Amino acid sequence: MTSPVLTFFNNKGGVGKTSLIYHLAWMFASLHKRVVIADLDPQANLTAFFLDEERIEEVWEKTDGSTIYQCVQPITDMGDIKEPVLQNVGTDLYLLAGDVRLSDYEGELADVWPKSLDSNLYRPMRILSSFWQIMQMAADKVEAAIILADIGPNLGAINRSALIAADYVAIPLGADLFSLQGLKNLGPALKSWRQSWKKRLDNWESSSEKKRYPDFHLPEGKMEAIGYLCQQYMVRLDRPVKAYDKWIHRIPDVYREAVLGQPPEAGGKQENDPYCLATIKHYRSLIPMAQEHRKPIFSLTSADGAIGSHAGAVQDARKDFNTLAIKIAGKIGMVI
Ligand SMILES: Nc1ncnc2c1ncn2[C@@H]1O[C@H](COP(=O)(O)OP(=O)(O)O)[C@@H](O)[C@H]1O
Ligand SMILES: [Mg+2]
Repeated sequence: MTSPVLTFFNNKGGVGKTSLIYHLAWMFASLHKRVVIADLDPQANLTAFFLDEERIEEVWEKTDGSTIYQCVQPITDMGDIKEPVLQNVGTDLYLLAGDVRLSDYEGELADVWPKSLDSNLYRPMRILSSFWQIMQMAADKVEAAIILADIGPNLGAINRSALIAADYVAIPLGADLFSLQGLKNLGPALKSWRQSWKKRLDNWESSSEKKRYPDFHLPEGKMEAIGYLCQQYMVRLDRPVKAYDKWIHRIPDVYREAVLGQPPEAGGKQENDPYCLATIKHYRSLIPMAQEHRKPIFSLTSADGAIGSHAGAVQDARKDFNTLAIKIAGKIGMVI
């Protein structure tokens, strides 16, 4: 049995990927879905949301598979990938910790990409699918219903492997030129990775090597785009509302053309676009408050400082993330 992998991706940074994964993980767990959260960004921001510095230092000093880098490191040395050791960070929440050394893996992943079409396919295919293999081992261990993977903001070899491992991709966006341009680059990148992975899978299927490795399974490389999220916090407050409207109204068409390869829908509005998964509010000071207390925004209490208008915003956030989690579950066929 394999578990579905969902990621949030945009090659533009600072679009709220890590914050979304963090909150969604807590929300799925509160809906009694066991979650593995994998931090595949060498910046390891998601890991810092869950673990304090002392614990991160402890984990980074180990060699037993406690970080994603520790799991992949042996395969760069003629060994094999290591089974992950997970951090239980909440009820039904298991973190596969990130590691700044993961950036060392970029070169290896880039090197084996062309080799995965020659002969001697097993090792290159094992390396290219290593993130998926490790995440599936993790999900198996704890019987997780879903894997949420956090990734960095670029189209490099680490992200290519992370996306090959993904069944579903959601795209967070701001209403600005840069986000729209990012969206235009991202659609074709996903398409090209899907196609080139398919080629490698077909090649592997017809190779004589396959018989020697009956237990070796590979990700489908589906990368199904399930929709986009509009990030209100990215809106520049010094800009007139008209500028916001101009960009926001372009999103549905650009998404259809660049990501889905569909013709634009004349006059389609973002508010009622079925591909718009959510509009994420500007949470202002609730974000640092949540980080300080190592909790999602929607679990902040008056003792944490969420008083007055904050208390209302906390309730709204709970409703919004609950709706988002249920909507995403519907898109990926997960029963809540
Ligand atoms: N809904 C939000 N409201 C206010 N600030 C946010 C919101 N989501 C994210 N941020 C802030 O924006 C910055 C970038 O968010 P992050 O989740 O790290 O994005 P990414 O992972 O795409 O780089 C962080 O400082 C974060 O605290
Ligand atoms: Mg991030």
